[in-house]
Amino acid sequence: MSTVTPSSRRILVTGANKGIGKAICERLLQEWDDTYVLLGSRDLQRGEEAKADLINSLGDSCKDRLQVIHLDTSSDESVQKAAESISGDDKLYGIINNAGIGFGRSMEETVNTNYFGPRRVNDAFGKHLKRPGGRIVNVSSASGPIFLQNLSDASLKGKLNQAWTIPGGLEELDTIARTIKGGNEYGASKALLNAYTFLYAKANKDLIINAITPGYIKTDLTAGSGASNPPSKGAVPPCWLMMDEDVAHQPTGRYYGSDCVRSPMDCYRGPGEEPYVNNDDLVEVSKN
Ligand SMILES: NC(=O)c1ccc[n+]([C@@H]2O[C@H](COP(=O)([O-])OP(=O)(O)OC[C@H]3O[C@@H](n4cnc5c(N)ncnc54)[C@H](OP(=O)(O)O)[C@@H]3O)[C@@H](O)[C@H]2O)c1
Repeated sequence: MSTVTPSSRRILVTGANKGIGKAICERLLQEWDDTYVLLGSRDLQRGEEAKADLINSLGDSCKDRLQVIHLDTSSDESVQKAAESISGDDKLYGIINNAGIGFGRSMEETVNTNYFGPRRVNDAFGKHLKRPGGRIVNVSSASGPIFLQNLSDASLKGKLNQAWTIPGGLEELDTIARTIKGGNEYGASKALLNAYTFLYAKANKDLIINAITPGYIKTDLTAGSGASNPPSKGAVPPCWLMMDEDVAHQPTGRYYGSDCVRSPMDCYRGPGEEPYVNNDDLVEVSKN
């Protein structure tokens, strides 16, 4: 029996049956006792197994605050169905767009999951978000800024780094996403996601919308690449962006490094380095 109370902070986490997504669910349940977590999984059985694992490690008390939701972020139909399945009466406190695929896929497949996935989820679940003040965290990657750093097409680089200069806004960004070329599919998809984060925040000033990288974490996505940090470490930055009180008082549409410090979208900033400062792109959150 699942229990959502009026004071629960109900949070959807996509791609949460393993890796960083599952660790995010664990951290949300463990560190904040008013959370209610919707664990998104494109395979119901894998989702239920993750739920059983979490109850096993956190104890029975989290059982009533955890629900699996069947959600394939690459499919319009699946996302629509999932959004319709949740009750409209209890608002969502937040969405963590974590589902993602890694290297070695076509541009179309990579962009469909890593860019259009969060796009679909936010469009479909946005009506359930608490306004003002609901939050969206897009789990991005340092591969996005690195992609832009190495991009020779100055016009495209300018648009993705300074999304407010894209004349056609989100619609034009979607067209760019459908036609973008190049050898670094993963980096391209995350650069698009960062640009989208800015434009979506600008279009939804009553929400707190940002992107963040979890850092270099050992998961199936990085298998064999030498990553050694556990998923629990990768869960810290997205959970900070979702739950920290100070974040609500900052402008939104930003990209943060794994040290939870604002970072540029067009070049790599390492943890501990100077914060990125630029106010050209200021999007203030409206309080009503
Ligand atoms: N690991 C890192 O070092 C690192 C660094 C920077 C950013 N990230 C980002 O962190 C996020 C999580 O990655 P991870 O390292 O935890 O990878 P992972 O262990 O491979 O987990 C990815 C999760 O996303 C799910 N997923 C993939 N496509 C999906 C879809 N269409 N619909 C729903 N769920 C889908 C997977 O489900 P299945 O089990 O069904 O495949 C899995 O649950 C990704 O966005 C990734 O880009 C990771």
